[in-house]
Amino acid sequence: MRHLSILLLTASLLLAWGKTGHRVIGRIAEENLTPAAKAGITELFGHSDLARIANWADDIKSDPKWDHSHEWHYCTIIEGEEYTGPESGGRAVQKVTEFTKLLSQDNLSEKDQKDVLRFLVHFVGDLHQPLHVGNGTDKGGNDVKVTWFRDETNLHSVWDSKMIDHMQYSYTEYAQQLQLGLTDEDRQAMLNPDIMSFVYKSRSFHPQVYDIGNGKLSWQYIYKNKELMEDRLLKAGYHLAAILNEIYK
Ligand code: ADE
Ligand code: ZN
Ligand code: ZN
Repeated sequence: MRHLSILLLTASLLLAWGKTGHRVIGRIAEENLTPAAKAGITELFGHSDLARIANWADDIKSDPKWDHSHEWHYCTIIEGEEYTGPESGGRAVQKVTEFTKLLSQDNLSEKDQKDVLRFLVHFVGDLHQPLHVGNGTDKGGNDVKVTWFRDETNLHSVWDSKMIDHMQYSYTEYAQQLQLGLTDEDRQAMLNPDIMSFVYKSRSFHPQVYDIGNGKLSWQYIYKNKELMEDRLLKAGYHLAAILNEIYK
């Protein structure tokens, strides 16, 4: 029993934006693809349902063959410094850049195109979770123990899934809710494929994210951070669409 709980605990530390978060991002992106991008993705998968492929990169963490991919889910920007590269921890920026290029060049096997696209959809999402752009001191908040209502957990997990799950929306409902009332100008403004701009943006929210008082997080923390969490999901969806539209031009 003890071993089982340790195993479960370890597994929970490894998750990224939870399943719903990645699906919301995939759904929003899909709704904003150009016809060419939609066609390119459909040619590969037989559909263009990005929500369906968005969690594969987490699923394969259970396969030792993919152990080397664990550090592809995050990056690090040391406090007060510029992003320097993977040597400060995590390869998400490098992988998103590399995979975008690989898909654009169009000389991969069909199997590799599928894997690379599944990774890309997931990592663009991860990089919008403020704690996936870590500060290099606490594994992106995984080492910051907090309570969430009555449960013991960590700050990273609150941002990956606890806050999202608390909203009790399905991913399709959430994708729809987040886009209510957007004008064409709003949408255009969000269709930005520049990776480093959203990485720095994620990092810029750390003061708010780490403002956790005594670490007993519940209604008040949600009240203060819901808007930011939802904005990161929305922007992730549009940025992902912009990157894919650029690839399948
Ligand atoms: N491990 C080390 N840094 C991390 C981060 N920012 N996110 C997830 N896992 C990590
Ligand atoms: Zn991830
Ligand atoms: Zn995570």
